[in-house]
Amino acid sequence: MAPVFDAPKVIQSLDVILNTLKVGTIVRTPGDFNAFSFDQAYRETGGFPVLSLSFRAAAGGLRKDPRPLAGTLPSFFANLLPEEKLREAMERHHQGNVRPGNDFDLLAALGADLPGAVRVLASNGAMVVPQDTSKNKPKARFSLAGVQMKLSVMKNTGKGGGLTLPMDDGQGQYIAKFPSTAFPGVSENEFANLALAEAIGMDVPERELVENSDFDGIPEEFNTLSEGKVLLVKRFDRGAKGERIHIEDFAQVFGAYPSRKYEGAAYHDIASAIGIAVSPAVALEFVRRLALTVVTGNGDMHMKNWSLIYPGDGNKPALAPLYDVLSTVPYIPADAMALSLGGERSFKALAAPRWKAFANRARLPEPAVLKAVVETVQRVNEHWWHLPERDAIPEKVRERIDEHVEALTPILNTCAEK
Ligand SMILES: Nc1ncnc2c1ncn2[C@@H]1O[C@H](COP(=O)(O)OP(=O)(O)OP(=O)(O)O)[C@@H](O)[C@H]1O
Ligand SMILES: [Mg+2]
Repeated sequence: MAPVFDAPKVIQSLDVILNTLKVGTIVRTPGDFNAFSFDQAYRETGGFPVLSLSFRAAAGGLRKDPRPLAGTLPSFFANLLPEEKLREAMERHHQGNVRPGNDFDLLAALGADLPGAVRVLASNGAMVVPQDTSKNKPKARFSLAGVQMKLSVMKNTGKGGGLTLPMDDGQGQYIAKFPSTAFPGVSENEFANLALAEAIGMDVPERELVENSDFDGIPEEFNTLSEGKVLLVKRFDRGAKGERIHIEDFAQVFGAYPSRKYEGAAYHDIASAIGIAVSPAVALEFVRRLALTVVTGNGDMHMKNWSLIYPGDGNKPALAPLYDVLSTVPYIPADAMALSLGGERSFKALAAPRWKAFANRARLPEPAVLKAVVETVQRVNEHWWHLPERDAIPEKVRERIDEHVEALTPILNTCAEK
């Protein structure tokens, strides 16, 4: 029997599934109220495997279900959706079946391929996106957060190779980030920044630079018409056999909506959450990543650019690999940190006193924080100046990054003074 097709806009109830376990339901009521509730059987597990730390009570177990919300989804789900231009492209792709600006419709359309191991499927078993090529043109239905034009893609090993969108039950193993005319060399910039992070011992996804011409069958709505290389990054939320590995970003952890990703928390909040949920040693790894952020002039490390990952049984989080790192100062000379660090955002203000204030607010030992900063800056200087990948960056952009590294090194080295 052919599956029934229901347009996302007519779906009233969605099942929330974590890997293969049903954990709850999102129902929409007349007047466009959305209510999420956990299933009793999942409540009885105490909330394991974990969907999001934001749903956990301080005393253990799950919190009460959130109240129904008018015209919006609970923040955990809103954070699974694409933002800005990428969202508009996805809405156009599903035109007629998804109403612009309607989070429930879009989640229903994209729910089979979300970040991490969560899936959101129509409770009545209906298919929400046409995948039957005999009747309709198949539609892409992956969701990735963020604003830059990007696609979740598969690498084809068959004839001709090439990169394509996943259709049917196929899943993307890579994220393709398309360049933007507004930011020259942005792919090369991120490529080199990821290589630098790896060279200094950090956990980063595999990546490569590819050409626009390597892609096949990309729908027109997603065409950016921009010139230049495309950055291909291996997805860390998909395993070798296509299995899903759960992740959540820090907007989700703190229950903040995507629109508040630059103000919903400070870096010490993220550090202290990592210290409690993962370990103090891993919180210091976060400090090293922060020092890298400062020295490379990366003003875009907002709440959605840090994630937790739930490997194995999914009961306990670890810090996800580093992603979306690039020097923003070549494009925005007056840029500052995306969130406040010890009460300051300006890069040049981030000398030892700010790191001490950060350490105290994060409840991390001051000497360990200062040492992590100094060691990171030293390693960056050992690797950056002869990193092979820096040659890929356009000269003007690279010069600005170099100037920033030179200017910030002595400022951060004040952390070495006794
Ligand atoms: N290697 C990866 N594996 C799995 N998920 C990833 C990976 N890289 C990024 N993501 C997820 O995809 C989202 C978008 O990617 P990314 O942050 O690189 O894009 P962006 O559009 O540049 O973001 P921004 O809006 O911060 O500029 C991230 O928020 C994260 O959830
Ligand atoms: Mg991002």
